[in-house]
Amino acid sequence: MGGHSSYQPKSAFAKWFHERLPIMDLIQGQALDFPTPKNLNYFWTFGGILTMMLGAQLLTGIVLAMHYTPHVTMAFDSIEHIRRDVNYGNIIQKLHANGASMFFLAVYIHIFRGMYYGSYKAPREILWMIGVIILLVMMATAFMGYVLPWGQMSFWGAKVITNLFSAIPFFGDSIVTWLWGGFAVDNPTLNRFYSLHYLLPFVLAGLVGLHIWALHVPGNNNPTGVSVKSGQDTVPFHPYYTMKDAFAIGVFLIVYCLFVFFAPDYMGHPVNYEMADPLKTPAHIVPEWYFLPFYAILRSIDNKLLGVIAMFASILLLLVLPWLDTSRVRSGTYRPVFKQFFWILVLDCLLLGYIGSRVPDNLFWVDTPSHEGGFALTNKLVGQIATLYYFVHFLIILPILGLLETPKPMPASISEAVLAKNKPALPGHKAAVPAE
Ligand code: HEM
Repeated sequence: MGGHSSYQPKSAFAKWFHERLPIMDLIQGQALDFPTPKNLNYFWTFGGILTMMLGAQLLTGIVLAMHYTPHVTMAFDSIEHIRRDVNYGNIIQKLHANGASMFFLAVYIHIFRGMYYGSYKAPREILWMIGVIILLVMMATAFMGYVLPWGQMSFWGAKVITNLFSAIPFFGDSIVTWLWGGFAVDNPTLNRFYSLHYLLPFVLAGLVGLHIWALHVPGNNNPTGVSVKSGQDTVPFHPYYTMKDAFAIGVFLIVYCLFVFFAPDYMGHPVNYEMADPLKTPAHIVPEWYFLPFYAILRSIDNKLLGVIAMFASILLLLVLPWLDTSRVRSGTYRPVFKQFFWILVLDCLLLGYIGSRVPDNLFWVDTPSHEGGFALTNKLVGQIATLYYFVHFLIILPILGLLETPKPMPASISEAVLAKNKPALPGHKAAVPAE
């Protein structure tokens, strides 16, 4: 792991302790003195923001668990009890519910930052892959957490998503029965979801530990994508980045609090204020906003099994992204064509999100029921095109683009880029320098 520690035990006790457990040395070397590129922009604060959000979810979740009852007859009322009777219960419940959305908002920005600056490229492939596993665990945690209030959307969402496994040939139905713990989404399902929803955040914390370990071996990437070449390119993590991260966390907390205090239900669904009723299917079953793009991919294919495969493939694909992108240049800053495709991908994902929230057979622009027969631009058709584009981006555009694109001149080092900010690259560096 990079960076040596300047730790010197100051007292006799500190020396005694250090010889037995050099943890202060580890903290000094890995958190305080850690050499960090001096040109990181605010997009690099999202890792810190995410760590804070994981802590916030754990803390509020543990308090909620003290008052929540995981039983189908009591779960819904126990949430209402938390909101009304428990001291600060309303705020804690709102912090947790909105916290999930804020967590996903931050993780999507973090992922797209990595994609733009090529942070997944060598030597950070394992770091990136651990990130993708983190994303999957986050999704499972959020999905099971949403079932716990046992509202209408909790119940029907759980039913729709667990039922997807029935598309698996031969074993599908048995798998669904096994997941449910019975023949319907019922008390055993609620209990196991509660158990796993409590467990998985700790798994996440462990994965985040591995993620940061894998980050500290090669060190941070940076906006130029050029590797650190000398001591001049870095500054110690503390105080420079502790302060920058703290400021960004403060701003992020303001946005989070604006939701919690002024629009606590903005990202929720009103139907979930009704208790689960297995005999009453809601008119529209819609997942939380952060699942909508994947939901759109799922629904864009009529065959259930293929839809499920496409949905999982859209995430698992990211595991091999480091090998799909053939460019030798890391940062999108120096890749003029890639940059444009990157923004098209962002728009494509937003479009998928929008389509995921719509009725498939309605018309795209006006979102009213389409007439039978003839060609009609339905939400479903737009979803199909957007799904196709998503896969084309990763499987065709990225591999080919890396081979064909001529990158812009790159700075020889981070220091040069910082000193020559807003000036063209120095003469003699016209050719792209490969990102090692
Ligand atoms: C609980 C969720 C996560 C936490 C707490 C977390 C934490 C962090 C932290 C603290 C950093 C260093 C600071 C920074 O670059 O922002 C980092 C870097 C990184 N993370 Fe994550 N992360 C999470 C999820 C993810 C996911 C889902 C991915 C990708 C799919 C990912 C990919 C990366 C990459 C590639 C870097 C290196 C960035 C660079 O140096 O350019 N992370 N993460």
